[in-house]
Amino acid sequence: MSLIIANWKMNPTSEQAVLKLVNDIIQQDTLPNGGQARYPFSPNGFVEASKMQDTKTKVVFCAPSLYIKSISQLLNNASNFSLGAQNCFYEEFGTYTGEISAKMLADLGVKYCIAGHSERKKYFGETIEDVKKKISALLKNNIIPVVCLGEDDRTKKLSGIENQLNDIINDIPKSKLEKIIFVYEPAWAISDGENPVKDLPSSDDILSAKLLFRKTLSRKISKKNLDNIKIIYGGSVTSNNVGDFVGENLMDGALVGGASLKAKEFGKIVKNFSSTSSS
Ligand code: PGA
Repeated sequence: MSLIIANWKMNPTSEQAVLKLVNDIIQQDTLPNGGQARYPFSPNGFVEASKMQDTKTKVVFCAPSLYIKSISQLLNNASNFSLGAQNCFYEEFGTYTGEISAKMLADLGVKYCIAGHSERKKYFGETIEDVKKKISALLKNNIIPVVCLGEDDRTKKLSGIENQLNDIINDIPKSKLEKIIFVYEPAWAISDGENPVKDLPSSDDILSAKLLFRKTLSRKISKKNLDNIKIIYGGSVTSNNVGDFVGENLMDGALVGGASLKAKEFGKIVKNFSSTSSS
């Protein structure tokens, strides 16, 4: 199954807007349920998940943590949609004011959690050591880590990634490695929410990134297990460019920021992705 992960960052700003966004997204004709079933929205409403058909694409919503429970009620275990989180703290509980642990996320039914997003590194000083501890806390709580790696500088494409990736996977037992989703997320390609980024990575750049991730991972795991690991792309993905980044020989999915906040546009990304994706 391939993946489209919506990262809403610090948006939207009310529970009502969050539930409306989820509802608008899951009602798109272009989404995996093929518009077969329509789900009336009410603040207390539930999605009749059982009507959804299984497809090759899974959509994960990484909402701000305080909305996760409401989204979970709305999704009601829908098979094509999953609950995600944007961050966690690596300790399970204790005197860590303001933090949310992987254990707490697991208790809410979270299945995926981003670790090491470039904005966490840029604004909150998150280090590779922090990211490593978060990954092990997530794995311990059966949450799939969505681990972001990428270069900061557009003139130094792919530099430093091999070392970062080696460092991250070094301490992870082989048996757990397959559970991780890796994101090639060049910080320079991420939209600031206002000005579109010019000159995004080309399909050739994406292919080189994928090969580099695979080559580095292959030092630790067998070819068969390597094929089970998903490597996806994040950075200014839209319905127009998703085909440049995902598909056969390219990435296995996308981490979508700004465009995932617009239901119609996000629905088109999933549709365009599903039509280019081979797996
Ligand atoms: P963006 O965000 O799609 O808004 O550029 C991508 C990301 O968060 O990785």
